[in-house]
Amino acid sequence: MRTHYCTDVTETNIGETVTVAGWVNSRRDHGGLIFIDLRDKGGLVQLVCDPADNKEAWEVAEKVRDEFVLIATGKVRARGEGLENPNLVTGKIEIVLENLVIENRSKPMPFDLNDEKVNEEIKLRNRFLELRSTKSYEIFKLRSTANIAVRNCLNEMDFLDVETPILTKSTPEGARDYLVPSRVHHGEFYALPQSPQLFKQLLMVSGFDKYFQIAKCFRDEDLRADRQPEFTQIDVEMSFCTQEDVIKVAEKLIHDTFKACGKDVPTTFPRMTYKDAMEKYGSDKPDMRFGMAMVDVDDIFINSTNEIFSNIAANSTKNRIKALKCPNGDNIFSKRQMKGFEDYVRKFGASGLGYFQMKEDGLKGPLTKFFSEADLEEIVKRTKLEVGDVVFFGAGDKKTVLDYMGRFRLFLAEQMDIIPADAFEFLWVVDFPMFETVDGRTKALHHPFTMPKSLDDISDLEDIESIAYDIVLNGTELGGGSIRIHKQEIQDKVFKLMGISDEEAREKFGFLLDALEFGAPPHGGFALGFDRMIMLLAGTDSIRDVIAFPKTQKAQCLLTQAPSAVDEEQLKELALRIRKTEA
Ligand code: AMO
Repeated sequence: MRTHYCTDVTETNIGETVTVAGWVNSRRDHGGLIFIDLRDKGGLVQLVCDPADNKEAWEVAEKVRDEFVLIATGKVRARGEGLENPNLVTGKIEIVLENLVIENRSKPMPFDLNDEKVNEEIKLRNRFLELRSTKSYEIFKLRSTANIAVRNCLNEMDFLDVETPILTKSTPEGARDYLVPSRVHHGEFYALPQSPQLFKQLLMVSGFDKYFQIAKCFRDEDLRADRQPEFTQIDVEMSFCTQEDVIKVAEKLIHDTFKACGKDVPTTFPRMTYKDAMEKYGSDKPDMRFGMAMVDVDDIFINSTNEIFSNIAANSTKNRIKALKCPNGDNIFSKRQMKGFEDYVRKFGASGLGYFQMKEDGLKGPLTKFFSEADLEEIVKRTKLEVGDVVFFGAGDKKTVLDYMGRFRLFLAEQMDIIPADAFEFLWVVDFPMFETVDGRTKALHHPFTMPKSLDDISDLEDIESIAYDIVLNGTELGGGSIRIHKQEIQDKVFKLMGISDEEAREKFGFLLDALEFGAPPHGGFALGFDRMIMLLAGTDSIRDVIAFPKTQKAQCLLTQAPSAVDEEQLKELALRIRKTEA
């Protein structure tokens, strides 16, 4: 129907007759002269109609309203001096209407497409309209480009794209499963995969050697700005490989995909151990776009005449005293703001937040009286303080201090606006612990198929390291993976340490355990969160922007109204009855 897309009509077409098609972005009537901004996927072009030139087209143009669907034919002309719009690709030209067809009308829009502040609920209910915006189209173009780049890159490296089931059995990624009832086997359920983890390991036992999939995953967990119940992973697995081999593949994949999306990032990324990340940044996904690493000062605080500090410092296995320098903080923040910082960290379990200010004549602040001159000097030296800086202290139980000081570091950086918005800082966090204790129970930190570095010393389970790694981008966990256990005796031992009985292991993962007995090769891999990757590439702060039809914070699709009740007949077939919840 068209000869050109709107944004393809440029100065080179001046004098030509073109046909464009799209939606009315806006219509203006200037004393009889009608201007229409016509929009298609790529952007806008201006149509103009003078009743003196073409009465017939003008009469149609009179009837046009926002979001009507038009097919317009006309001659391209220069806009003329002073009338150009430098914000539009097509800003130097306009199309003088010769023929105008209204292909379809539109009800008035429920919201203004160009207004970024519209209520989220209205936008999601009308998501197909929100997607009409050029900004949305650009995001999905980027997503498509990245998807193709991923496929090309992995294909070149000999990875085989294999689809794994969606109706399956529970996978061990630690969230709740979405369940699907079986009509044929009453009382039994499929689980939607939280990831293709077990299947990709089985494909290695099958000898496929290198697998990948751009895979849909489903997790029923608390939602956040970077989490959706249904999301997409770039899932990769390979055989006869070391951690180095896997990291190389991931780095090439990330580099090539970012390049295809117009972003030049390094070919290798720096690494940090999990321990260092936690101790220096209070996070297993530190944002490396800015410094502000924490330093230990337990050995100085142990001399303090304040017993609270000296007692905490005396038990350095269980506790931590961390110093966080805030460059120029004394000049930026008022006393009242500093007090507010204490309220911030209290939300995360801090009992207080001490600080010193670096003045011309040395350290000042309510805490100085508890320290000797020499120790104050040592603090200045250790934290590299300069006049105008502030140094904050967190003291107490190790886990709590690392957590709130890590959050506080980010909070301060945001307050000071020192995080460069367009930087891409990648970091591998390596040597993750094998286990963590949650509510007194031992759990696998990644998943129970991760290879431990060694099980020779099991006196403290939290000290056992695994061959597991995460890739972090700008403080977001972009992906993670590990070398897997390929020997059944190690797998048995790990289950035992986690308190999983033989019966439970067999019932949950029997098929994988069986496979390990039939010549499983050494193998490992990783998965990258594809939506998160696009989110970071597109520079948006909500994962919903990069998913065509996303769900709300409450896991609902407002457009289709899912989840929704089903017919009594359907329930009967499934042998299900809805139990009325008590009011
Ligand atoms: P993991 O659970 O770390 O590892 O997931 C890999 C990556 O998937 C993304 N991701 C999510 N994205 C959006 N919404 C969610 N709810 C969500 N959950 C996870 C993150 C995360 O880093 N099978 C292992 C990988 C492996 O070991 O090979 C796995 O799924 O970016």
